[in-house]
Amino acid sequence: MTFKTPAQKYPVPAHVPPELVVDFDAYRPITGDEQYHEAFLAVRAKAPDIFWSPYNGGHWILTRRDHLSEAFGDYQRFTSTKGASLNPNRPPEAPKLAPIELDPPVQQSFRKLFASAFIVSALKEREKEARALAIELIDGMKPRGGCEFIKDFAQHLPIKIFMRMVDLPEEDRLTLLPLANAQVVADGPKEETIKLLFEYTGRHVMERAARPGQDLISRIATAEIDGRPITQHEAIGLSTLLLIGGLDTVASMMGHIMQFLACSPEHRRQLIEQPALIQPAVEEFLRRFALTNPARGVVEDIDFHGVEMRAGDRVLLSTPLGAVDPAEYVDPLTVDFTRKSGSKTTFGAGPHVCPGSMLARLELKILLEEWLTRIPDFALDPADAPRLKTGVNGSFEHLPLVW
Ligand code: HEM
Repeated sequence: MTFKTPAQKYPVPAHVPPELVVDFDAYRPITGDEQYHEAFLAVRAKAPDIFWSPYNGGHWILTRRDHLSEAFGDYQRFTSTKGASLNPNRPPEAPKLAPIELDPPVQQSFRKLFASAFIVSALKEREKEARALAIELIDGMKPRGGCEFIKDFAQHLPIKIFMRMVDLPEEDRLTLLPLANAQVVADGPKEETIKLLFEYTGRHVMERAARPGQDLISRIATAEIDGRPITQHEAIGLSTLLLIGGLDTVASMMGHIMQFLACSPEHRRQLIEQPALIQPAVEEFLRRFALTNPARGVVEDIDFHGVEMRAGDRVLLSTPLGAVDPAEYVDPLTVDFTRKSGSKTTFGAGPHVCPGSMLARLELKILLEEWLTRIPDFALDPADAPRLKTGVNGSFEHLPLVW
């Protein structure tokens, strides 16, 4: 993998014992042709359960799934107010990305504003649209005998469905995708791009505040927070977070799943012959291909499972590490549709647990059902290698498939 900027190492603070320092950058876990999740398992095998990484400003990494769940759930010791990633690079006057950069109870007040958009009855409406769109896309590309899966499918289905939820023009996805993407890759131009995202959502928030519709941004623009009207600044932060959360993640998960299926005729056959396995397969894929690496800040000096953490230390809650924890999952790299224990931290846990998880599950199920009935046999293109991009999220940016 190549990056535009070199990874920078930071001095290790005095309270961190040298034996807990490991030379691993979770935002750039691979340097050559390794696989993304394999790199996390490799560090899990050689590092202490909790270790210090000197990259991205210097921070703790929790490697055990149970420690991750504990920290996700404990905002009193691990705050989100210092930024949901290790290097948000934003000017102090910029809007907070509520609710992900807030702690309860105020975080919960913001979360309530979009909860109704993600409930089962609202998703039923989305299912018809999503299925029709999936079929149209697959039927359209099938005669071509191949596609670049990310550009031709993953950046259409989940993103168009999301753009409809927020009632933004579908064609804007082409402008928004690189801006949202810059926030989650290791060396993206974060400051300029978040400014453009704020400008974009700001325009729409103001329009919807003046002439509200039925969409999610209108609901946010005209909402009340704890009995007072939401400020424009808050509405812009919240709408921008939805764009960042909604644009990249499902597309990224789809990339990992299709790369795997392209290389595993056996798993494709299982899903085609036993469609009842599709639902458990979605859960197992979500477990195996967890891809986000959010961060927290330590609130006050603590002893966390024998490790002395100081107020202000940053902590990475790496969900790929939770996914491949051998203490939790036997043979964690194996994809096993009959595995009983599903994904426990892929969508986080506790107060910030992902509100988009049901929508994501629905879209992944539709992908498997509609793709495998139309294109049951496919492979990686031998003439064009897949390419990963890593950072807060680990995803494929290029995934050529042939059939
Ligand atoms: C497979 C797809 C997805 C994955 C793996 C994923 C993962 C996550 C994770 C790990 C968190 C917790 C972050 C933290 O604790 O700091 C989170 C929160 C969030 N996600 Fe997702 N997500 C996905 C899909 C979506 C979708 C489709 C949307 C919106 C349409 C969305 C919107 C959000 C929002 C708004 C939050 C913040 C919630 C809060 O702070 O209370 N996500 N997501």
